[in-house]
Amino acid sequence: MKRGIVPGTFDPITSGHLDIVERASALFDDVVVGVALSPEKNGGPLFTAQERVALIESATKHLSNVSVRAFDTLLVDFAEEVGASVIVKVLRAMTDFEREFQMAALNWRLDSKVETMFIMAIPEYMYLSSSAVKEIAAHGGTLRGLVPDVVCDALTTKLRSAR
Ligand code: PNS
Repeated sequence: MKRGIVPGTFDPITSGHLDIVERASALFDDVVVGVALSPEKNGGPLFTAQERVALIESATKHLSNVSVRAFDTLLVDFAEEVGASVIVKVLRAMTDFEREFQMAALNWRLDSKVETMFIMAIPEYMYLSSSAVKEIAAHGGTLRGLVPDVVCDALTTKLRSAR
């Protein structure tokens, strides 16, 4: 039984994230999407951890071997807790490489039983990030194709209530 873990902040999940989860779900017996609380990232996430989990659950409901859990520990400890032996990360442009290389090296140093595997983003999603999505939404731009539909609605509601 090979279990992979796809970690991230997912504030919110984008179509690029979803593509990686779908590809990981085809490679592993099952996949846990790990939602890091990341309270310190970019001044704090827009969506609560529960909201991010719910959005991912909704966006991945067509994938029967995918589950979603929030975590607030070291990633390698979370991987051990859920019984995952492989961390699946995405590489978009070269700009991701330095940070991802550092995290993979440190995670290996923390627990060499947990392997890190990289999946390349498809060209369509190479430029896509949660931050860009939030910026586009804040300025009223169209998000069609950039995020799952459920996220589109949630962003509209969230930004309206923040005004
Ligand atoms: O979507 P993000 O913000 O790029 O994801 C980063 C994440 C959550 C994968 C990373 O910050 C992480 O692994 N956090 C858990 C804490 C941890 O293990 N830190 C040490 C990694 S070297």
